[in-house]
Amino acid sequence: MKAVVFDAYGPPEVLHVGEVAKPAPKNDELLIRVHAAEATKADCEFRRSRFAVKWLWPTTRLFTGITKPRLRVLGWYFAGTIESVGSSVTRLQPGDEVFGCTKLRMGAYGEFVSLPESYSIVPKPANISFEEAAAVPLGGLNALHFMTLASIKPGGSVLINGAGGSIGSFAIMIAKTMGTEVTAVDRTEKQEMLRSLGADHVIDYTREDVTKSGKRFDVIMTMVAQSPYSGFVGMLKPGGRYLIVNPRLSDMVRSFITSRFSDKTATFAFAGEKPEELLQLKEMIEAGKIRPVLDRVFPMDQAAEAHHMVETEQRLGTIVIRIGDA
Ligand SMILES: NC(=O)c1ccc[n+]([C@@H]2O[C@H](COP(=O)([O-])OP(=O)(O)OC[C@H]3O[C@@H](n4cnc5c(N)ncnc54)[C@H](OP(=O)(O)O)[C@@H]3O)[C@@H](O)[C@H]2O)c1
Repeated sequence: MKAVVFDAYGPPEVLHVGEVAKPAPKNDELLIRVHAAEATKADCEFRRSRFAVKWLWPTTRLFTGITKPRLRVLGWYFAGTIESVGSSVTRLQPGDEVFGCTKLRMGAYGEFVSLPESYSIVPKPANISFEEAAAVPLGGLNALHFMTLASIKPGGSVLINGAGGSIGSFAIMIAKTMGTEVTAVDRTEKQEMLRSLGADHVIDYTREDVTKSGKRFDVIMTMVAQSPYSGFVGMLKPGGRYLIVNPRLSDMVRSFITSRFSDKTATFAFAGEKPEELLQLKEMIEAGKIRPVLDRVFPMDQAAEAHHMVETEQRLGTIVIRIGDA
């Protein structure tokens, strides 16, 4: 089968279309024909083997290959059609249109992927395309996970830092469904998009230091690894909650101290990517409460351009790679 592969860690140009063995599903697995996969920041980080948070490097390099990539096919989040199922599969069947996550197996940049039925793979929302559906799991699952942890009450105030990215854009929409007042922080070019997603206030981080705004929030969620820890915790109202999506080691230590010795809580829990959460997102999309924001769809042989756009942040929304000839 065809797949976007890479044989050396490096810039987007290391990606090319190649032939790899078609996976064979085990008894508890689904063989899925992939139609579309999101090109994510994490894919770019794994391709370069360079991470915004430095502690990830030694851990992941052991897993992905020390001198060169052992897992040659990237792609964590996808939409596609079930081709065949193993003998013990009960929930899904051939022909079902699905979307979901590959977890650490990756491989969604290939025409077929074989994954356990227990993974977060559920029927795709009926009212969106495969390309749009592929743009949901990363942003939607992480945003839902962190916004649920926030236990926000209607009327509460939320600051979302890095709001224009995959996770942040869903966080704005989900926070709005919870009845909150949302302040979104990102660069100039993304301000209009942030408002169109429902942000009540927008702050341009390239022109204004958000920590000097003098405002206070019930919840602050940040996607940005270099976020000022004390600055953000200092902006929380009494009992407020700081949610760190991309934590440095120092953030982890400090969040323990904040939660233990102050009236505020700092949390860096990783999203579990549960099927029931993806079903919740499907229902919210079908009800018109949230929607994926797609910037551009690239064919497989332009995967390098797709990664370039993600890495250089020349995008207003998600970048998706169309897999196969469809
Ligand atoms: N905790 C978890 O379970 C988990 C799960 C998945 C991903 N992650 C990690 O979370 C990170 C964010 O994910 P994502 O996919 O949403 O990233 P993303 O799409 O790159 O979004 C990040 C956004 O932050 C903006 N930004 C950059 N610097 C900023 C600053 N100083 N202040 C405010 N905004 C700033 C970026 O815009 P510009 O760069 O254009 O300014 C971009 O719009 C990734 O590194 C990913 O690896 C964590």
